[in-house]
Amino acid sequence: MPDIRRIKTVFKSKPTMEGAGVRLKRVFGFHEAPKFDPFLLLDHFGSDNPDDYMAGFPWHPHRGIETITYMLDGRVEHGDSLGNQGVIESGDVQWMTAGSGIIHQEMPKESEGLMMGFQLWANLPSHQKMMHPRYRDVKRNTIPEVELESGVRARVICGEIAGTRGPVQDIVTEPEYLDVEMASGKTFSHDIKEDHTVFAYVFEGSGAFGVDKVTVESGHLVLFDEGSEVLIDSGDEGLRFLLISGKPIGEPVAWYGPIVMNTREELETAFREYRNGTFIKKGK
Ligand code: CO
Repeated sequence: MPDIRRIKTVFKSKPTMEGAGVRLKRVFGFHEAPKFDPFLLLDHFGSDNPDDYMAGFPWHPHRGIETITYMLDGRVEHGDSLGNQGVIESGDVQWMTAGSGIIHQEMPKESEGLMMGFQLWANLPSHQKMMHPRYRDVKRNTIPEVELESGVRARVICGEIAGTRGPVQDIVTEPEYLDVEMASGKTFSHDIKEDHTVFAYVFEGSGAFGVDKVTVESGHLVLFDEGSEVLIDSGDEGLRFLLISGKPIGEPVAWYGPIVMNTREELETAFREYRNGTFIKKGK
């Protein structure tokens, strides 16, 4: 018998300001993160007013984490201190493993129109925090879209559904990252390992979540309780959500701004290195 997960908590995303003055919605972050291990933060940016996004995210460091950017509308140009450069186009994902450290910027490429997407931060276990930085630029056309039944489809960025695997593989915390779209009156169920943290972020429509059928509207996140399966029914207007899961790391977290380590000493080292110019580690 599948053990269908109940709902643990529903969170409402909150307006906040980040980068050089980008208006976005923080779905969860520093204060909620202990409940989301191995994930640290989820931001949802979406606006058709350039004043809300043009300031972008100028030069800043990251160490000890992965940042996963999924663009649904608009284009973001990124560049880093190692000379890597590229554009995240609409529908693309950039899965960046900062590891020992990168200094980068993320700036909008368009000065008009809708800019919409997500940035998720995933923690790295202690033995990978100082690994060599790694980028996976996942183009839209390499992300498989699976039709589970008429009116229910999933884009598989990472993980597996109905025998289809996503392009991002070999991540220690075994994350799964699905973008699921449902017409009205449909049911979606999906097996997830019992010990994994799993949440759904609704960004269109509404639905009934979990064995207890809790109604959740757009702009809200559902954190599931323990169990082996998630069950979701779409509401009258249909439903679209991110379904994200991963294996908890269970280590101490020392977090300041864009750097997340295990101890305060490691944090102090990181900021000292950033100040004195030795933050970036060369070679493998
Ligand atoms: Co960044």
